[in-house]
Amino acid sequence: MDTLHDLPALRARLAEWRAAGLRIGLVPTMGNLHAGHIALVQDALAQAERVVTTVFVNPLQFGPGEDLDAYPRTLAADTERLVDAGNHLLFAPSEATMYPHGRVGHTVVEVPGLSAELCGASRPGHFAGVTTVVAKLLNLVRPDVAVFGQKDYQQLMLIRRMVADLSMDIEIRGLPTVREPDGLAMSSRNGYLGADERVRAAALYRTLRALADVVAAGTAPAAAEQAALRSLRDAGLTPDYVSVRRQQDLAPAVAQDSALVVLAAARLGRARLIDNLCFERSVVPPC
Ligand code: PAF
Repeated sequence: MDTLHDLPALRARLAEWRAAGLRIGLVPTMGNLHAGHIALVQDALAQAERVVTTVFVNPLQFGPGEDLDAYPRTLAADTERLVDAGNHLLFAPSEATMYPHGRVGHTVVEVPGLSAELCGASRPGHFAGVTTVVAKLLNLVRPDVAVFGQKDYQQLMLIRRMVADLSMDIEIRGLPTVREPDGLAMSSRNGYLGADERVRAAALYRTLRALADVVAAGTAPAAAEQAALRSLRDAGLTPDYVSVRRQQDLAPAVAQDSALVVLAAARLGRARLIDNLCFERSVVPPC
């Protein structure tokens, strides 16, 4: 596997692959790779003949006072994991390569509406940072297929919307969340948790599971959300939100919606944890 850091080298390699008619897959990451990321790479390898994984801690998606400086940068270990997975090319650009005019004044790609809800409400500007960097990576690599995790469900929805709105001819795949044995979704930020916090963190998954179960059984989402917020607080977490939405577009769930998703974000020590679960609610057809 080669590691490239600059655009001319990346473009030259991609041109060779395209000239050979090879199908190209892309896995964008911020590094500190875990089994969840490797599952994305393996999926991309099954979909494409050449896979580019990118490692770039994107400053545009971090707000003031967030963990940009603390975010784990582990390129040597990431490189080893990617070699073992059979990834073909690692692209790890510098900030100057991605944002030659600096962080401010850069052209921004932003999906309206949904970008300001859920995680966007507690992290203003976060999703504009995500869609901007993903648009750049999709333009740079021009893959046939790009693979993302469903753990970041709202991010995945916004990327799908951006790709559709900007008429990008790229297949976007969303892969199921990879979990620890106690249900905690794998995340680079789990490393911020101390031993006691790590045990308590599993309450997020348990709470979402219970919430999905009661809504599937007929409890009104608003009442169930309040109970979920209480159970997160009882477990020592500080929730940003818990919300029942419909899977298709993350609009608030109405009575006719059967394909639903519960989403939550909560703070625990230095970590901000997010998770979600998709489920079906049986809707009695009108007579
Ligand atoms: O999900 C992530 O790791 C990041 O938000 C992404 C998609 C790589 C953009 O920086």
